[in-house]
Amino acid sequence: MTQVIHQARQLRALGAGAGPVCVVMTMGALHRGHAALIEQARGQAGAGQVIVTDFVNPTQFGAGEDYARYPRTLEQDVVLATAAGADVVYAPDVADVYGFADPSALNSLITIDPGPIGSILEGAARPGHFAGVLTVVAKLLHLTAADIAIFGEKDYQQLSLITAMVNDLHFPVEVIGAPTVREDDGLAMSSRNRYLDPAQRAAAAVIPAALRAVQDSAGLGEHAALEAGRAVLDSQPDVELDYLTITAHDLGPAPASGAARVLIAARIGSTRLIDNMPVVLGA
Ligand code: PAF
Repeated sequence: MTQVIHQARQLRALGAGAGPVCVVMTMGALHRGHAALIEQARGQAGAGQVIVTDFVNPTQFGAGEDYARYPRTLEQDVVLATAAGADVVYAPDVADVYGFADPSALNSLITIDPGPIGSILEGAARPGHFAGVLTVVAKLLHLTAADIAIFGEKDYQQLSLITAMVNDLHFPVEVIGAPTVREDDGLAMSSRNRYLDPAQRAAAAVIPAALRAVQDSAGLGEHAALEAGRAVLDSQPDVELDYLTITAHDLGPAPASGAARVLIAARIGSTRLIDNMPVVLGA
Protein backbone atom coordinates (compact mmCIF):
# COMPACT_ATOMS: atom_id res chain seq x y z
CA MET A 1 0.00 0.00 0.00
CA THR A 2 1.42 3.39 -0.99
CA GLN A 3 1.98 5.66 1.98
CA VAL A 4 1.05 9.31 1.44
CA ILE A 5 2.99 11.69 3.63
CA HIS A 6 3.09 15.46 3.83
CA GLN A 7 5.99 16.16 6.17
CA ALA A 8 9.74 15.76 5.87
CA ARG A 9 9.90 14.38 9.41
CA GLN A 10 7.72 11.46 8.21
CA LEU A 11 10.26 10.84 5.44
CA ARG A 12 13.01 10.64 8.03
CA ALA A 13 10.96 8.09 9.99
CA LEU A 14 10.69 5.69 7.03
CA GLY A 15 12.67 2.54 7.77
CA ALA A 16 15.59 1.63 5.52
CA GLY A 17 14.42 -0.79 2.84
CA ALA A 18 16.40 -3.80 1.67
CA GLY A 19 17.76 -1.88 -1.30
CA PRO A 20 18.32 1.63 -2.65
CA VAL A 21 15.97 4.59 -2.31
CA CYS A 22 14.89 5.63 -5.79
CA VAL A 23 13.12 8.95 -6.18
CA VAL A 24 10.92 10.31 -8.98
CA MET A 25 10.34 14.04 -8.56
CA THR A 26 7.17 15.51 -10.00
CA MET A 27 4.98 18.56 -9.72
CA GLY A 28 1.94 16.28 -9.70
CA ALA A 29 -0.72 16.16 -12.44
CA LEU A 30 0.75 12.75 -13.16
CA HIS A 31 0.34 11.11 -16.57
CA ARG A 32 1.66 8.01 -18.37
CA GLY A 33 5.07 9.63 -18.76
CA HIS A 34 5.37 9.82 -14.98
CA ALA A 35 4.06 6.25 -14.68
CA ALA A 36 6.93 5.08 -16.90
CA LEU A 37 9.44 6.88 -14.64
CA ILE A 38 7.92 5.31 -11.53
CA GLU A 39 7.91 1.85 -13.13
CA GLN A 40 11.58 2.31 -14.03
CA ALA A 41 12.26 3.41 -10.43
CA ARG A 42 10.52 0.27 -9.15
CA GLY A 43 12.86 -1.81 -11.29
CA GLN A 44 15.92 0.09 -10.03
CA ALA A 45 14.91 0.00 -6.37
CA GLY A 46 14.06 -3.71 -6.22
CA ALA A 47 13.32 -4.37 -2.55
CA GLY A 48 14.32 -0.80 -1.72
CA GLN A 49 11.98 2.14 -1.68
CA VAL A 50 10.38 4.16 -4.50
CA ILE A 51 9.51 7.67 -3.36
CA VAL A 52 7.49 9.98 -5.61
CA THR A 53 7.59 13.64 -4.67
CA ASP A 54 4.50 15.64 -5.65
CA PHE A 55 5.16 19.34 -5.15
CA VAL A 56 4.46 22.41 -7.30
CA ASN A 57 7.65 24.30 -6.59
CA PRO A 58 7.00 28.06 -6.44
CA THR A 59 10.61 29.13 -6.94
CA GLN A 60 10.85 27.77 -10.48
CA PHE A 61 7.94 29.86 -11.76
CA GLY A 62 8.47 33.41 -12.92
CA ALA A 63 6.05 36.30 -12.41
CA GLY A 64 3.11 35.86 -14.77
CA GLU A 65 3.73 32.12 -15.26
CA ASP A 66 1.25 29.38 -14.39
CA TYR A 67 2.12 28.66 -10.73
CA ALA A 68 -1.38 29.46 -9.45
CA ARG A 69 -3.21 27.57 -12.18
CA TYR A 70 -0.81 24.61 -12.37
CA PRO A 71 -3.07 21.52 -12.00
CA ARG A 72 -3.11 20.02 -8.50
CA THR A 73 -4.57 16.51 -8.59
CA LEU A 74 -3.12 14.68 -5.59
CA GLU A 75 -5.88 12.08 -5.25
CA GLN A 76 -5.53 10.88 -8.87
CA ASP A 77 -1.73 11.16 -8.60
CA VAL A 78 -1.72 8.69 -5.69
CA VAL A 79 -3.81 6.21 -7.70
CA LEU A 80 -1.40 6.43 -10.66
CA ALA A 81 1.73 6.30 -8.48
CA THR A 82 0.37 3.27 -6.61
CA ALA A 83 -0.41 1.39 -9.83
CA ALA A 84 3.09 2.18 -11.14
CA GLY A 85 4.77 0.78 -8.03
CA ALA A 86 5.50 3.70 -5.68
CA ASP A 87 5.96 2.92 -2.01
CA VAL A 88 5.65 6.51 -0.80
CA VAL A 89 4.17 9.74 -2.18
CA TYR A 90 5.62 12.80 -0.45
CA ALA A 91 3.29 15.75 -1.05
CA PRO A 92 4.55 18.60 1.13
CA ASP A 93 3.36 22.18 1.39
CA VAL A 94 5.66 25.14 0.69
CA ALA A 95 6.54 25.59 4.37
CA ASP A 96 7.67 21.98 4.73
CA VAL A 97 10.19 22.37 1.89
CA TYR A 98 11.25 25.99 2.34
CA GLY A 99 10.73 26.59 6.04
CA PHE A 100 8.18 29.38 5.53
CA ALA A 101 4.97 29.80 3.60
CA ASP A 102 5.30 33.55 2.97
CA PRO A 103 6.06 33.81 -0.79
CA SER A 104 7.93 37.11 -0.38
CA ALA A 105 10.46 35.34 1.86
CA LEU A 106 11.29 32.97 -1.01
CA ASN A 107 13.33 35.76 -2.60
CA SER A 108 15.86 35.70 0.21
CA LEU A 109 16.77 32.03 -0.05
CA ILE A 110 20.15 30.44 -0.49
CA THR A 111 19.86 28.92 -3.97
CA ILE A 112 21.91 26.83 -6.37
CA ASP A 113 23.48 28.79 -9.24
CA PRO A 114 22.96 26.77 -12.44
CA GLY A 115 25.97 28.36 -14.17
CA PRO A 116 26.09 29.42 -17.84
CA ILE A 117 23.95 26.54 -19.18
CA GLY A 118 21.22 27.77 -16.85
CA SER A 119 20.78 31.01 -18.76
CA ILE A 120 20.39 29.69 -22.32
CA LEU A 121 17.27 28.22 -23.99
CA GLU A 122 14.71 27.71 -21.19
CA GLY A 123 16.86 29.74 -18.85
CA ALA A 124 16.78 32.70 -21.26
CA ALA A 125 13.01 32.45 -21.67
CA ARG A 126 12.42 31.89 -17.95
CA PRO A 127 15.01 33.82 -15.90
CA GLY A 128 15.59 32.22 -12.51
CA HIS A 129 13.79 29.02 -13.51
CA PHE A 130 16.77 26.69 -13.18
CA ALA A 131 17.97 28.18 -9.91
CA GLY A 132 14.51 27.28 -8.59
CA VAL A 133 14.63 23.80 -10.10
CA LEU A 134 18.12 22.96 -8.83
CA THR A 135 17.37 24.35 -5.39
CA VAL A 136 14.26 22.24 -4.94
CA VAL A 137 15.91 19.16 -6.46
CA ALA A 138 18.84 19.52 -4.04
CA LYS A 139 16.43 19.84 -1.13
CA LEU A 140 14.36 16.85 -2.22
CA LEU A 141 17.46 14.70 -2.77
CA HIS A 142 18.48 15.45 0.82
CA LEU A 143 15.00 15.05 2.30
CA THR A 144 14.40 11.70 0.60
CA ALA A 145 18.01 10.49 1.14
CA ALA A 146 17.83 9.23 -2.45
CA ASP A 147 20.44 6.85 -3.84
CA ILE A 148 19.01 7.05 -7.37
CA ALA A 149 16.91 9.77 -9.03
CA ILE A 150 15.15 9.35 -12.37
CA PHE A 151 14.23 12.34 -14.56
CA GLY A 152 12.62 12.41 -18.00
CA GLU A 153 14.59 13.42 -21.09
CA LYS A 154 11.62 15.58 -22.13
CA ASP A 155 13.11 18.31 -19.93
CA TYR A 156 16.53 17.81 -21.45
CA GLN A 157 18.15 21.00 -20.16
CA GLN A 158 16.80 20.28 -16.68
CA LEU A 159 18.19 16.74 -16.81
CA SER A 160 21.59 18.04 -17.97
CA LEU A 161 21.74 20.64 -15.21
CA ILE A 162 20.66 18.22 -12.49
CA THR A 163 23.30 15.73 -13.64
CA ALA A 164 25.92 18.48 -13.61
CA MET A 165 24.87 19.67 -10.13
CA VAL A 166 25.03 16.16 -8.70
CA ASN A 167 28.48 15.59 -10.24
CA ASP A 168 29.95 19.03 -9.53
CA LEU A 169 28.69 19.22 -5.94
CA HIS A 170 29.41 15.54 -5.17
CA PHE A 171 25.91 14.46 -4.25
CA PRO A 172 26.02 10.70 -3.51
CA VAL A 173 23.22 10.06 -6.01
CA GLU A 174 23.01 8.35 -9.39
CA VAL A 175 20.95 10.37 -11.87
CA ILE A 176 19.24 8.38 -14.61
CA GLY A 177 17.60 9.94 -17.68
CA ALA A 178 14.51 8.20 -19.04
CA PRO A 179 13.16 8.36 -22.60
CA THR A 180 10.25 10.67 -23.38
CA VAL A 181 6.84 9.02 -23.50
CA ARG A 182 4.72 10.23 -26.43
CA GLU A 183 1.06 10.28 -27.45
CA ASP A 184 0.08 8.40 -30.63
CA ASP A 185 0.67 11.50 -32.78
CA GLY A 186 4.12 11.99 -31.27
CA LEU A 187 3.34 14.82 -28.81
CA ALA A 188 5.52 14.46 -25.72
CA MET A 189 3.47 13.81 -22.60
CA SER A 190 3.38 16.83 -20.33
CA SER A 191 1.15 18.00 -17.52
CA ARG A 192 0.74 21.23 -19.47
CA ASN A 193 -0.91 19.41 -22.41
CA ARG A 194 -4.12 19.54 -20.42
CA TYR A 195 -4.23 23.34 -20.92
CA LEU A 196 -4.76 22.78 -24.68
CA ASP A 197 -8.26 22.88 -26.17
CA PRO A 198 -9.00 20.25 -28.86
CA ALA A 199 -7.92 22.48 -31.79
CA GLN A 200 -4.71 23.47 -29.98
CA ARG A 201 -4.05 19.85 -29.05
CA ALA A 202 -4.32 18.84 -32.72
CA ALA A 203 -2.02 21.71 -33.74
CA ALA A 204 0.57 20.66 -31.14
CA ALA A 205 1.41 17.53 -33.15
CA VAL A 206 3.46 19.79 -35.42
CA ILE A 207 6.09 20.08 -32.65
CA PRO A 208 7.30 16.45 -32.76
CA ALA A 209 6.74 16.46 -36.53
CA ALA A 210 9.20 19.36 -36.84
CA LEU A 211 11.74 17.54 -34.66
CA ARG A 212 11.41 14.43 -36.83
CA ALA A 213 11.94 16.56 -39.95
CA VAL A 214 15.15 17.86 -38.38
CA GLN A 215 16.23 14.31 -37.57
CA ASP A 216 15.46 13.15 -41.11
CA SER A 217 17.47 15.98 -42.70
CA ALA A 218 20.32 15.98 -40.21
CA GLY A 219 22.57 14.15 -42.67
CA LEU A 220 22.53 17.34 -44.77
CA GLY A 221 24.01 19.38 -41.93
CA GLU A 222 22.74 21.73 -39.22
CA HIS A 223 21.47 24.54 -41.44
CA ALA A 224 19.46 22.32 -43.82
CA ALA A 225 18.07 20.30 -40.93
CA LEU A 226 16.79 23.39 -39.12
CA GLU A 227 15.28 24.69 -42.38
CA ALA A 228 13.38 21.42 -42.77
CA GLY A 229 12.05 21.72 -39.22
CA ARG A 230 10.99 25.34 -39.71
CA ALA A 231 9.16 24.43 -42.93
CA VAL A 232 7.03 21.93 -41.00
CA LEU A 233 6.28 24.50 -38.31
CA ASP A 234 5.28 27.07 -40.94
CA SER A 235 2.44 24.76 -41.97
CA GLN A 236 0.77 25.40 -38.60
CA PRO A 237 0.19 29.12 -37.96
CA ASP A 238 -1.32 28.52 -34.49
CA VAL A 239 2.07 27.42 -33.20
CA GLU A 240 4.41 30.29 -32.38
CA LEU A 241 8.05 29.21 -32.36
CA ASP A 242 10.26 30.39 -29.51
CA TYR A 243 13.38 28.44 -30.51
CA LEU A 244 14.38 25.49 -32.66
CA THR A 245 18.05 24.76 -32.27
CA ILE A 246 20.66 22.03 -32.50
CA THR A 247 23.27 21.73 -29.77
CA ALA A 248 25.91 19.30 -28.63
CA HIS A 249 24.79 16.67 -26.12
CA ASP A 250 25.99 18.88 -23.29
CA LEU A 251 24.05 21.85 -24.76
CA GLY A 252 27.23 23.49 -26.04
CA PRO A 253 27.59 24.52 -29.72
CA ALA A 254 26.49 21.87 -32.24
CA PRO A 255 29.31 19.74 -33.62
CA ALA A 256 29.94 19.90 -37.39
CA SER A 257 28.98 16.25 -37.58
CA GLY A 258 27.99 13.39 -35.33
CA ALA A 259 25.63 12.99 -32.40
CA ALA A 260 23.78 16.11 -31.26
CA ARG A 261 20.40 17.21 -29.87
CA VAL A 262 17.59 19.23 -31.42
CA LEU A 263 15.49 21.25 -28.97
CA ILE A 264 12.31 23.21 -29.46
CA ALA A 265 10.07 25.54 -27.47
CA ALA A 266 6.82 26.82 -28.92
CA ARG A 267 3.70 28.55 -27.72
CA ILE A 268 0.16 27.53 -28.58
CA GLY A 269 -2.21 30.14 -27.20
CA SER A 270 -0.92 30.78 -23.70
CA THR A 271 0.64 27.32 -23.32
CA ARG A 272 4.38 26.93 -23.80
CA LEU A 273 5.59 23.44 -24.73
CA ILE A 274 9.12 22.07 -25.02
CA ASP A 275 10.50 18.93 -26.61
CA ASN A 276 13.77 17.51 -27.97
CA MET A 277 15.20 14.52 -29.83
CA PRO A 278 18.64 13.11 -30.62
CA VAL A 279 20.03 13.84 -34.10
CA VAL A 280 23.09 12.70 -36.01
CA LEU A 281 24.50 15.55 -38.09
CA GLY A 282 26.19 14.85 -41.39
CA ALA A 283 29.40 16.54 -42.43
O1 PAF B 1 10.26 18.37 -13.93
C1 PAF B 1 9.56 18.75 -12.97
O2 PAF B 1 8.41 18.33 -12.79
C2 PAF B 1 10.14 19.74 -11.98
O3 PAF B 1 10.94 20.69 -12.60
C3 PAF B 1 10.87 19.07 -10.80
C4 PAF B 1 12.11 18.31 -11.27
C5 PAF B 1 9.93 18.10 -10.09
C6 PAF B 1 11.33 20.13 -9.79
O4 PAF B 1 10.26 20.84 -9.27
